[in-house]
Amino acid sequence: MEYKIGNEKKLKDHMENLLKAFSSDMEKVGNIAELENVRIIYLGKKSFVSTILRSMGSLPRTMKPVVGKNVNLFRIEIEKNINLKEKELKSIEYEQKLKKEVIDLSLPGRCNTAGSKNILTQVVEEIEDIFIGMGFEVAEGPEVETDYYNFEALNTPEDHPARSLHDTFFVGGGMLLRTQTSPVQIRYMEKNRPPIAIISPGRTYRKDYDVSHTPMFTQIEGLVVDREINFGNLKWTLEVFLREIFGNDRKVRFRPHFFPFTEPSAEVDVSCNICNGAGCRVCKGSGWLEILGAGMVDPNLYSFVGYDPGEYSGFAFGVGIERICMLKYGIDDLRIFFENDLRFLKQF
Ligand code: PHE
Repeated sequence: MEYKIGNEKKLKDHMENLLKAFSSDMEKVGNIAELENVRIIYLGKKSFVSTILRSMGSLPRTMKPVVGKNVNLFRIEIEKNINLKEKELKSIEYEQKLKKEVIDLSLPGRCNTAGSKNILTQVVEEIEDIFIGMGFEVAEGPEVETDYYNFEALNTPEDHPARSLHDTFFVGGGMLLRTQTSPVQIRYMEKNRPPIAIISPGRTYRKDYDVSHTPMFTQIEGLVVDREINFGNLKWTLEVFLREIFGNDRKVRFRPHFFPFTEPSAEVDVSCNICNGAGCRVCKGSGWLEILGAGMVDPNLYSFVGYDPGEYSGFAFGVGIERICMLKYGIDDLRIFFENDLRFLKQF
């Protein structure tokens, strides 16, 4: 809208038209950028307001105050509307931003499923606690063993018939996977002097596979050596242990047995809780489950570790951990411990 300076009436008419155009432009404004365009049209360098104020010097003297007053009022009106609109637009944009970035605290979070200790580990720790309570220490030994520690120093020379019972895995280089935790007895006695009271949990290996045998299984070895240790001490220790782990109702029996490194020896059975002594596939119809071997340390072992057999005596025992778990929890197949079926593992 071109404007030529005329009289006051003409000026006011022109501004009125401009205001009408301004309000219709303003109605179409939807965001800050569009508002900025409108501001440039009505208040920018090339706008009516700027042009006329710049030309004030050349106006007739009588017109100067008229133009000054009216144009300023006009400018203030435009500015007021633009500022209002700006505020309004900014608050709308802010609301939208808030809506977009909102965090819904009521949504369920991602689940971190925590693992838990395998049942065998739990039972090993429980047994450790029982023996630590009786003054035992925990010792460890390697799973890949020499023939010497697994057999020879345990009174089981090369031609000994007991070797064939073990179905040993040989790994070459004269090494084997230990068939029992008993080698820890020798390793510990070599390095320590009596009094000794240790237990040693760990994995053991034999070529065997059925409901009550797996090629890898877990044992806890026990060894006590001191002056005047006798079979009564052994029986008492094992009875305390078995009562702690199974409760008082389960029956326990000691059976004479043979181990190359203990004399006399015994096997200890617990009444089968799966059939309650009636006989089932797990206890092979006997009503009893063998869970540990034990005996007085054969004095001949002391010659391998430099102890005086006249001075010291001791007892040893070896417990099958999977068997204990089966009895404690009524599990009827040993193989399930190693199949890693979560439905089984999660129950503990
Ligand atoms: N090592 C024997 C076995 O695995 C168990 C045992 C340990 C027996 C200690 C007597 C003393 O059969």
